Amino acid sequence: MRILITAGPTREYLDDVRYLSNASSGRMGYAIVDAVQAAGHEAVLVSGPVALTPPVGCEVHDVETTEELHDVCNQLFVRCDGVIATAAVCDYRPRERFSGKLAKTGVSLELELVETADVLADLGLQKGHRWVVGFALESDEFAHVNALRKLKHKNCDAIVLNRPTAIGSPTNQIEIIDQSGLNVAAFSGTKTDVARELWQWIADNLVH
Ligand code: CTP
Repeated sequence: MRILITAGPTREYLDDVRYLSNASSGRMGYAIVDAVQAAGHEAVLVSGPVALTPPVGCEVHDVETTEELHDVCNQLFVRCDGVIATAAVCDYRPRERFSGKLAKTGVSLELELVETADVLADLGLQKGHRWVVGFALESDEFAHVNALRKLKHKNCDAIVLNRPTAIGSPTNQIEIIDQSGLNVAAFSGTKTDVARELWQWIADNLVH
């Protein structure tokens, strides 16, 4: 099998040197690449800018912006059997990207932000016989409801619920929600261990 895995943050540029982004380390996605390869499958990694070395033997596509992530995933998904989307995607980008470096003017500057494409929702729309697993990073008491809404909106087969404490951390605590809407599994530990358990769950439940 060939699995598409997205990892790390995206960046949305305001000018040629400044961008909006987030603190995603990419560790969860890279650990999933390791788990997929260890199980004897091919991993195709689409990675935002991170400080990690890609696992040996996987096909790597580096991207920076959400638009690049969108384009590359749309091209690659056709030759994959499923996707695991761990990327922490910027939902907004500045309406305008200024060339060069914006200089101070002495007055406040208003930033207008517009929504970026929903990469996973697009893959969900075109999935056909392939399976789609998303991640949902939720911070409030409606975590389960929010994650389930994302599963439905993005046409996922399962969604992995995790918390903001996962960002930049070597460990993670996840719950898997499937199309029944129930929490069907929960794993915690190092991202390496959690990745292995998650892959095993996907192999047992989504791979036909
Ligand atoms: N995702 C995506 N494209 C986006 C936003 C998110 O592909 N523009 C993917 C993420 O990689 C993740 C899933 O969708 O697998 C959920 O991401 P999350 O940031 O939790 O949710 P959003 O859809 O961005 O919703 P919100 O920010 O409103 O909570």
